[in-house]
Amino acid sequence: MTVESVRPEAVQIPEPRTPPLAGGGVPGLGHGWKLMRDPLGFLARLRDHGDVVRLRLGPKTVYAVTTPALTGALALSPAYEIGGPLWDSLEGLLGKNGVATANGPMHRRQRRTIQPAFRLEAIPEYAPVMEEEAHAFAGRWQPGETIDCTSEAFRVAVRVAARCLLRIEFMDERAERLCAALATVFRGMYRRMVIPAGPLYRLPFPANRRFNRALADLHLVVDEIIAERRSSGQKPDDLLTALLEAKDGNGDPISEQEIHDQVVAILTPGGETIASMVMSLLHVLTEHPGHAARIREEVESVTGGGRPVAFGDIRKLSHTNNVIVETMRLRPAVWILTRRAVTETELGNYRIPAGADIVYSPYAIQRDRRSYERHLEFDPDRWLPERSEDVPKYAMRPFGVGNRKCPGDHFSMAQLTLITATVASKWRFEHAPESNGAPRVGITLRPNGLLLKPIPR
Ligand code: HEM
Repeated sequence: MTVESVRPEAVQIPEPRTPPLAGGGVPGLGHGWKLMRDPLGFLARLRDHGDVVRLRLGPKTVYAVTTPALTGALALSPAYEIGGPLWDSLEGLLGKNGVATANGPMHRRQRRTIQPAFRLEAIPEYAPVMEEEAHAFAGRWQPGETIDCTSEAFRVAVRVAARCLLRIEFMDERAERLCAALATVFRGMYRRMVIPAGPLYRLPFPANRRFNRALADLHLVVDEIIAERRSSGQKPDDLLTALLEAKDGNGDPISEQEIHDQVVAILTPGGETIASMVMSLLHVLTEHPGHAARIREEVESVTGGGRPVAFGDIRKLSHTNNVIVETMRLRPAVWILTRRAVTETELGNYRIPAGADIVYSPYAIQRDRRSYERHLEFDPDRWLPERSEDVPKYAMRPFGVGNRKCPGDHFSMAQLTLITATVASKWRFEHAPESNGAPRVGITLRPNGLLLKPIPR
């Protein structure tokens, strides 16, 4: 036997293929009508068609990535950047110079500026505001009244973000204006994203006028906040000071426009996502009274029952944490993410052309039967350490992965834990007769028209 005869055959690396076209398209309309009619169901079924599939949205081809491993590869690869239909529409409204839409060196510089305000060690500084707001949130209601969870949740989310990160004084008036403006802007933004009919939105319809007024007021409040800080001459160690003092790549101060866009780029994702999660958590406390009772028992055992829950208790509230994580799994606020390929590249041995728009859905990934046993069952105990080990990598990343990962993850978890623990200790809930609660797909996913009646514990 010669050495030659035992040499293994050269390994054949298969040529990258074009991803298969997802089934169910309609001639002329492609998959757009399915995405409009039932986006969550449609995205959740896509993995049955392949690991990467092509979707036709009118004349456009969009690539959908459906496995946890490939979403991780996508988010970690430098071959893709933030872009695609979602971001194109947001840029026009919120500005091009904020951290959520910038790419490349500018994005890296902006992340370095904002990161200190969000690092784990910075979060305890926000404790007094988070505690105060959580207790005020649960303390505002009267037994048996009907609470509109949408406005209550937006209010607390925007107040906490603005008070903690921008240390706004005379907060009440500004917070109310920010809440009102952001709620209207978020509603209108999703419409503009899925139906990009530019000229239609310039017509003087009442809805367009409301949207334009709210957008103008959002930008005005942000300008006021910046001007007030400047004129105060104070430089507390916070995010706003970091933005005002930030330098560009040449060491020059960043432009006024960039400071403005940065504040907007932090307030908008921060407000909408937390508000959506607060609504979903109120819904979960209503639908799963057994878990609400377990949270209350946990809080009592941690606090001794004699004092309100405090920031220092958070790490001991493990069931509360598991309820929040399981709520994020089944009802992720961020249900769809997009990227754009910078160059021609490959993903899972599929060819992705340069400039391609790519989507993936944390909702679909986190509800997949291939990753979770009893995948649709609400089971917070699946996050107990001994059970959570089996969850595949990247199958539970509600805050994203890689260089675009949410900077607000620790901030959000602390705030949501305080709110959930405080609310569950004080109230149980029933639906008001006109309450809806079905999933509402917008820029974020949240319960629609949730109206609850609080009943004292
Ligand atoms: C980005 C989720 C709260 C600020 C993201 C991304 C996700 C996410 C998935 C990554 C987007 C991508 O990969 O394309 C969430 C969830 C939240 C939350 C589920 C609450 C439950 C917050 C808060 C803030 C914030 C409280 C700030 C106050 C941002 C910013 C980005 C971002 C600035 C853009 C980061 C970048 O592109 O570098 N968020 N977020 N988020 N989030 Fe959050």
